Amino acid sequence: MHRVSANGAKIPAIGLGTWTLRDEAASELVESAIKSGYRHIDTAAMYENEEAVGAGLRASGLARDEIFLTSKIWYTDIAEGDLQRSVEASLKRLGTDYLDLALIHWPSKSVALADSIGALNEVHTRGLTRNIGVSNFTSTLIEEAVALSTHPLACNQVEYHPFLNQDTVKSACNRHGMAMVSYCPLARGSDLFGLPEVADPAQSHGKTPAQIVLRWHVQQEGVIAIPRSSNAERIRQNFEVFDFALSDDEMAAISALRERNHRICDFDFSPDWD
Ligand SMILES: NC(=O)c1ccc[n+]([C@@H]2O[C@H](COP(=O)([O-])OP(=O)(O)OC[C@H]3O[C@@H](n4cnc5c(N)ncnc54)[C@H](OP(=O)(O)O)[C@@H]3O)[C@@H](O)[C@H]2O)c1
Repeated sequence: MHRVSANGAKIPAIGLGTWTLRDEAASELVESAIKSGYRHIDTAAMYENEEAVGAGLRASGLARDEIFLTSKIWYTDIAEGDLQRSVEASLKRLGTDYLDLALIHWPSKSVALADSIGALNEVHTRGLTRNIGVSNFTSTLIEEAVALSTHPLACNQVEYHPFLNQDTVKSACNRHGMAMVSYCPLARGSDLFGLPEVADPAQSHGKTPAQIVLRWHVQQEGVIAIPRSSNAERIRQNFEVFDFALSDDEMAAISALRERNHRICDFDFSPDWD
């Protein structure tokens, strides 16, 4: 199992993203991902699938401590008191006593960060989560959060794929021993897979374009990727990225696609990005 060490957390380098997966399909895909070797599952209160994810974990038959389970607290629920209640509700829906990682899903413009980070530390101290972290934080917000937190932060989960430069956020994570978890790691499939920078190495390594892109992620220091698929076979393939390596030139050619500067998840509540 390839894991990234991040301030005490040992996070499997490929996890299953579950946004949009619902009900029985979500349970079956989680179970099948675990049977394919996944040990890291990413969900969120906002995804409205925690019950299904929990059912899938139990159906896999694996002991709870063999799975790294992440959930997130929606940004409207991160005030003191609300955050703790949100984590308790997530645990109840998931049917487990603890998360491996609890993340603030997005920063809030109206709740003081000190209150949210204080509440996040409290759920850690109470044993409701083994690790804490943030998501969609800029480098400036990372500095503020790190300074406010008693327990070290394990990661920042952000959008990252070949069309988006995240060097500034990645440096901030590295500086503080945090992992950077890439969401939308495949840029949602898009037109990425047909580009020669991806398609050519796919052909020469005998891999799929998605596997090339995921390899590009995990071959970077401190980077973890959480691809989602609604198809069990593609989920299985997305995990098979540890038996080959991209050359420096292949890595650089894929990284150069960042010139497109394409961000997928940008909302009116987003922070001022780096
Ligand atoms: N923290 C946040 O704010 C945040 C925001 C967005 C996402 N996330 C997390 O990150 C996860 C991943 O991001 P995402 O779901 O937005 O995007 P993604 O993983 O980049 O892309 C998912 C899309 O790629 C396709 N796909 C997956 N594997 C493929 C393969 N091997 N070949 C061809 N197509 C493939 C899927 O289609 P099929 O289903 O047809 O295979 C799906 O349409 C989410 O599920 C969620 O857990 C977090």
